[in-house]
Amino acid sequence: MSRNPALDARPLDAALVEAQTREVRRAYERIAPVYDLLDALYERSWKRRLRAELFAHALPGKLLDVGVGTGCNMPFYPPNSEVVGIDASPAMLARARARARRLGKKVQLLEMNLLELAFPDGCFDTVVATFVLLCLPDELQLPALRELARVTRPGGRILLLDYHRSSRTLVRWWMRMLSAWLRWAFAARFDPATERHLAEAGLEPLLRAHRMGDAVTMLVLTPASRARPG
Ligand SMILES: C[S@@+](CC[C@H](N)C(=O)[O-])C[C@H]1O[C@@H](n2cnc3c(N)ncnc32)[C@H](O)[C@@H]1O
Repeated sequence: MSRNPALDARPLDAALVEAQTREVRRAYERIAPVYDLLDALYERSWKRRLRAELFAHALPGKLLDVGVGTGCNMPFYPPNSEVVGIDASPAMLARARARARRLGKKVQLLEMNLLELAFPDGCFDTVVATFVLLCLPDELQLPALRELARVTRPGGRILLLDYHRSSRTLVRWWMRMLSAWLRWAFAARFDPATERHLAEAGLEPLLRAHRMGDAVTMLVLTPASRARPG
């Protein structure tokens, strides 16, 4: 067995991947035309601020935006970086293409599943996933982290933003009220189990912080050293 946990992945559960992809496609093909409108208030009041903070940890060079959606991260891509964005939803990608044109950004946008990235090992300096891993059930969190780790170069960065089930009673209650809507509209949940699998995925946290009280988790990760025996 290799000492690099990202390379020790077990085969993916094909049925689970297919079910997740189907659910995500169904949700995002439906919501894409109004996604930015629905998110506009959140985007202006706090998401943009957190995106700016997260992207301050990006490294120069090649950047992969996983689950690029309608391209809300585009204004924050580091200048002169070479960016690829992937998403499972063609309708979301179409909106991302329109945004890239509007902003004059050169971004390669591809339809692809984040669980089966068609890129060689270690080919990105930075891999970003904002509000994406919350679309995955617990059983797919570890395979997803391993796949992100696989395409990140040694010493590279993985930048994550996701919702987190708040410990504050009022916020928790609010999240419980919204959870059925979140699941139907965005195929998402407030409590992705991502953080539990970091070590097993061979990822070291450089920053692990809560924002918006503790309703959002910000993670800056790097693949643990890839020392091999001998
Ligand atoms: C809530 S949106 C977030 C979009 C964007 N990252 C942002 O911060 O606004 C989640 C996105 O992840 C994509 N997604 C979810 N599961 C995916 C998968 N398995 N492979 C590729 N994209 C996926 C969805 O299609 C959707 O566009």
